[in-house]
Amino acid sequence: MKNKTLGEFIIDNQNDFPGSTGELSKILSSIRLAAKLVSHETNKAGLAKHILGAAGTENIQGEQQQKLDVYADHQFIEALKAREVVCGIGSEENDDFVSFDEEKCKKGKYVVLMDPLDGSSNIDVKVSIGTIFSVFERCSAIGNPAELKDFLQKGVKQVAAGYVIYGSSTMLVYSTGNGVNGFTFDPSIGVFFLSHPNMKFPSSGSIYSMNEGNLNHCSAEIQDYISFCKGNNTATKKPYTARYIGSLVADFHRNLIKGGIYLYPSTTTAPNGKLRLLYECSPLAFLAEQAGGMAISDKGRVLDIQPEELHQRVPFYIGSKEMVKELEVFLQGGN
Ligand code: AHG
Ligand code: MN
Ligand code: MN
Repeated sequence: MKNKTLGEFIIDNQNDFPGSTGELSKILSSIRLAAKLVSHETNKAGLAKHILGAAGTENIQGEQQQKLDVYADHQFIEALKAREVVCGIGSEENDDFVSFDEEKCKKGKYVVLMDPLDGSSNIDVKVSIGTIFSVFERCSAIGNPAELKDFLQKGVKQVAAGYVIYGSSTMLVYSTGNGVNGFTFDPSIGVFFLSHPNMKFPSSGSIYSMNEGNLNHCSAEIQDYISFCKGNNTATKKPYTARYIGSLVADFHRNLIKGGIYLYPSTTTAPNGKLRLLYECSPLAFLAEQAGGMAISDKGRVLDIQPEELHQRVPFYIGSKEMVKELEVFLQGGN
């Protein structure tokens, strides 16, 4: 007997929301559908030339778009639009937010933000990649087109967030603010099954994840912290183990299961770091807190940052609570 399916789980938990109209369930179902399509394409990326390599275009951040970036962006947008419960989408791959102006969509009370394909540089080398998503209730009037302010909300206001990891197997992990649950895809029958109920970050761990190639361009505080990770102290599991995949979703997922900390600090060349607040940091911060972990930027909790623009970047530190607190002492100059 297999575990509960994602479809069953969504319906069972719909009743947790008083006055639920099933719209959020429809959003999750459309993400499930697009995830299956992207998973399928990902698995054949080595064979299907139409999906491998660069698309020959750049996104607004000047990054080369891969064909799979463009494919995933399209699939998630189309799946979400078709359910007519979302009034607009903000995506890393699009210059501006996309407003769904069909009459039914305009009545939708939600907006979605997403990184449709995270870890693009890993597509062509068969390393795990992902999708990250974040759902907010709109703050503009229902019935009108979506507005920028709908997308520029603090992470603490998210009603749902999650990711899909396309790895040795495909998993969908999400939270609607009532814990974090993970579902593994069985490709033989095309169904996600609940495999990781109530996921929790170990309170501490022994993994640190950072692109250390940037270390000479980081602050003295970060350099001191990394030296501390490499110190010798068996009682505190040091030296820590370095693990860095270069796909945020995959690094986060591993640390969630094993215990660890992920860092993408500011550097002299990228003063706000690399990661995008609304598509990457905020949704993962929501999941981290729901799983008993912690996520901060240079000036405190990620979920409390008021976004100022769609593609905003912030320094980002996330993981097991005790490890993030340990780092925070360094950032505050306490070491
Ligand atoms: P994306 O593929 O969506 O642009 O995201 C890439 C991000 C993130 O996934 C990863 O952790 C980070 O960029 C890696 O950056 P570096 O190559 O600078 O380490
Ligand atoms: Mn990304
Ligand atoms: Mn991306």
